[in-house]
Amino acid sequence: MDRLRIVGGHKLQGGVTISGAKNAALPQIAATLLSPYPVELTNLPQVSDVENMLGVVALHGAEVTRAAHSTIIDARNIVSTETTYDTVRKMRATVLVLGPLLARFGQARVSLPGGCAIGARPVDMHIKALAALGATIDIENGLIVASTPNTPGGGLKGGRIVLASPSVGATETAMMAATAAKGETEILNAAREPEVADLAACLIAMGAKIEGAGTHRILIEGSTSWQPAKHHGIPDRIEAGTYAVAAAITGGTLELTNARLENMAATVQMLEFMGVSVWPSDRGLVVSRDGPLRPTDITTEPYPGFPTDMQAQFMALATQADGATLIRETVFESRFMHVPELIRLGANISLQGTTAVVRGGPPLRGAQVMATDLRASVSLVLAGLVSSGETIVNRVYHLDRGYEQLDRKLRLCGADIERISA
Ligand code: EPZ
Repeated sequence: MDRLRIVGGHKLQGGVTISGAKNAALPQIAATLLSPYPVELTNLPQVSDVENMLGVVALHGAEVTRAAHSTIIDARNIVSTETTYDTVRKMRATVLVLGPLLARFGQARVSLPGGCAIGARPVDMHIKALAALGATIDIENGLIVASTPNTPGGGLKGGRIVLASPSVGATETAMMAATAAKGETEILNAAREPEVADLAACLIAMGAKIEGAGTHRILIEGSTSWQPAKHHGIPDRIEAGTYAVAAAITGGTLELTNARLENMAATVQMLEFMGVSVWPSDRGLVVSRDGPLRPTDITTEPYPGFPTDMQAQFMALATQADGATLIRETVFESRFMHVPELIRLGANISLQGTTAVVRGGPPLRGAQVMATDLRASVSLVLAGLVSSGETIVNRVYHLDRGYEQLDRKLRLCGADIERISA
C-alpha cells in the first residue's frame, strides 16, 4: 500500500490546474445507462472512483472507449440490470445506477450500500423518490429489488417528489429516473450543488428536458427521445478548495487554474474570515496568505452553505489560527475520523458530539498517521505541510479516490512530498 512522505515547512508558490469534478463525473457516467446512444464525456478526473464507475457501467454491458482527452460510453447493449454487493461495497456512488436501470428497463437489483467511515449513509430517500414515480421496491437479502408495472404502457410515471432533506444523491436518482418516466416530474427540496446542475446539463445534452436544476425545485418533462451527446464536466470545487487551504496553511500564494469563484463562495468567504486573500485571475483564482490566521466558527450545510467536503481541510487550517475555532458537522453523523490523527501531529482538538473545538497555537510535529476517508486523508497531508520534520500518511488509496496526482501537483508548488510504494 502506497504511503506519502512529507517534510513540512515550505511555503507553496506557483500554480495548480484543477481537474474535473469527481462528484459530477460519477452521476454522469451512471446517467449514460439511460440512453441507447453514445455519450462522450470530457474533463473526467483521473481518479480511482471514476475508474470504478466506468467499470460498473461496463459490467452492465456498456462499451467504454478511451480517447486522449475524452471517454465515450455506449450503453446500447445492456446485458444486466443487477449490481452486486462486492461492487457497491467498494464505492457507495454505485447506487446511482439504480434509477437509470429501473427507468430504462423496468427492473433493477442493486445491492444496498453499507455504511462507510463517515456514517450510515442510507438510501431511503432514493427509494422513496423512485416509489413516488410508481416503482415497486423491496429489500431482499441486502438487495434493492425495484420494478415498474409490466402492464402495457407500464414503466415509471411522472409525479411530485418531495425530498425530506436536500440529498445530493437522491436528487440525482430522482432526476435521472424522471427523464424516462411518462409525464412531468417535479422535485421539491432538491439539492442545489453545482454537480446536480452539471448532471442536468449532461442529461439535456443527451436529449432530456429539465428546468430548475441548481435550485430547490426541478421540473423534468419525461419520455425523453435520446440522442448522441458530448458533455464537458465542471471543475472540482472541492479539489480547488483543498489547494486554496494548502496555500493558506503554508502562508504561500497559489493560482488555481479552472477554479470557479461562483461555485466556491462559502469556502472563499471562510478563507477571507480567517485572514486569507482570494482574488479572481484570468485563469481562475489566486489564494494568498502572509499575515496571521484568525479563528472562526464553521457549520457545514447543504449547498450553498459551507461544504461538508471542506470540513476536514479547514480543521487542519484551524490548527494554525491564533485562538479557538468551533467546527460543527451537520451533514454526516461521524465525519471526524481525522481528529485523532491530527492530534497525533500535536493539534489541540476536543470533540463534543458533532462539534469540534480546535485550539490553534501548538506547532505541529511530523508523525506516522493513517488515512481513513478521502477528505480526512487530505487534511493530514495539509497538516503535514506545516509539521516540523517528517510526516508519513498511510493508506494513500483513500486519497487516490478523489485527488488526481495530488503529490505531483503539490511538489510542483514547492512541497517536499513524495509517494513511497510500500
Ligand atoms: C454526495 O454524497 C457526495 N458524493 C459527498 O462527497 C458529499 O459529502 C455529499 O454529497 C454531501 O454534499 C458524491 O456526490 C459521489 P447526500 P451523497 O445524499 O449523495 C443522508 C466526497 O468526499 N441521506 O447529500 O451520498 C446521508 O446519510 C463525498 O467527495 C439519507 O439519510 O450525500 C447524509 O447524512 C463524501 N438518506 C446526508 O443525507 C438518503 O437516502 C447527505 O447525504 C440519502 C442521504
